[in-house]
Amino acid sequence: MPPSADDQPPNPGFDLAAMIESELGAPGDALRLHERYINPSVAAVLRTIGFDANYVRGEGAYLFDDQGRRYIDCLGGYAVFAAGRNHPVVRDALRQAMELDLPNLPGVGVFRTSGLLAKRLVELMPGAASDMSNPLDTVFFANSGAEAIDAAIKHARIATGRRGLVYCHRAYHGLTMGALSVNGNQEFREGFGPLLEHAQEIPFNDLGALEAALEKGDVAAFIVEPIQGKGVNIPAEDYLSRASALCRKHGSLLILDEIQTGLGRTGRMFACEHFNAGGGPGQWTPDIMVLAKALSGGYVPVSALITRRWIHSRVFPSMSHCARVQTTFGQNDLAMAAGLATLHVLEAEGIVENAAEIGGYLTERLREKLAGFQMVREIRGMGLMIAIEFGPPRSAGLRVGWELLHKLDASLFCQAVIMPLMSDHRILAQVAGHRLDVIKLIPPLVLSREDADEIVGAFEATVRACHQFGGPAWEVGKKLGAAAMKRFVPA
Ligand SMILES: Cc1ncc(COP(=O)(O)O)c(C=O)c1O
Repeated sequence: MPPSADDQPPNPGFDLAAMIESELGAPGDALRLHERYINPSVAAVLRTIGFDANYVRGEGAYLFDDQGRRYIDCLGGYAVFAAGRNHPVVRDALRQAMELDLPNLPGVGVFRTSGLLAKRLVELMPGAASDMSNPLDTVFFANSGAEAIDAAIKHARIATGRRGLVYCHRAYHGLTMGALSVNGNQEFREGFGPLLEHAQEIPFNDLGALEAALEKGDVAAFIVEPIQGKGVNIPAEDYLSRASALCRKHGSLLILDEIQTGLGRTGRMFACEHFNAGGGPGQWTPDIMVLAKALSGGYVPVSALITRRWIHSRVFPSMSHCARVQTTFGQNDLAMAAGLATLHVLEAEGIVENAAEIGGYLTERLREKLAGFQMVREIRGMGLMIAIEFGPPRSAGLRVGWELLHKLDASLFCQAVIMPLMSDHRILAQVAGHRLDVIKLIPPLVLSREDADEIVGAFEATVRACHQFGGPAWEVGKKLGAAAMKRFVPA
């Protein structure tokens, strides 16, 4: 008989902390390993833009480096840390799951925890509390956002018997070949073709273009983010509800990608709730909702596709077709535990409400402090998904610098803002996409008012410096431009 867990020696000779200590003891060790074994181009970028801090710990909305310096994390691991980094309840849930010695991944067998998370997700869906017909009430689990998007494409094609896919300019749904086929950013697509056929790009927030695409009658699904991550583009208030009605009229499904916006990011549990989604009269719901990122608690990758039963039944219509969309780790216990604990924490600690309150406060304060600067075009956002958009200056001197930087690289201006935010203020942020003058803030949703004030102060100082032509920010830009010309290829 194999020994039980209790019979195992407590220390089997593996000590992760000791390994980290001995192999990553000196500053730069972790980056050197990354450079040698993972991606030297990324390492070069990190060094060039000064994002090579040696982080040793994360907590809530903060990262800490080996010098004990604290950074406010407005990048949030690309929006996975809704509950904050290393949330003690999520961490404890994972510890509990491990100590239960669960019969993880039985393969052909009854999974122990996935039904629990599926039930919670179904209960949370827009309209679930009403007695609407055809609610979103079945769940498929996968590991990453893109993988669930691929599954959504498969669901839509099988359920409708059609091939066509319609997606938006600037859409980002991930980078697997299926998801890439509905990606509206040329930079990500280049060189990887041929991608899926029958996929058509239309402008975002354009109902006429959508109707023209759907009218042909061959479209399986329109796939859309409620707020686009690339650029933080917010549609008109009635865009999604009218898009849903158009899909219904033309027999196409609406796939709503809430991978980035879902689970509290925008100050509601789902962003579509800002746009009249629900089960009441005159309200709408998507046919397929896709979640990922925050569901992981920032610990264990997981994604979920939630759909109506009739769609699910067409994908899995019989015993012989019961598993034709699947993935080995799809319902693993640690991911399920992370998801259950994250949902618990979001509700128990009022984190969604905090995102609404602090997000609103931060947006207003940024508007107040940055409004007078001629290169600041707009501050927009919902909850803690916020964009600071820049535009060409009026004054001739600044305009020369603006045009020079844009000639070198269309994303460079914002990069030149982000670098001093990091080096002088230890605020971690990102450019919102290729060829955009937009900085995006997607911090953990536990951000405090004091953090928000610190972020505003840092932006004010940095943006002020950018408005002094020839000042340090422009030097940064020029240096970056030279590096960009070398395409960040390391020596
Ligand atoms: C809206 C949206 N959809 C899909 C994805 C892809 O998710 P993943 O990177 O987990 O594949 C992302 C990732 O940034 C996203 O923001």
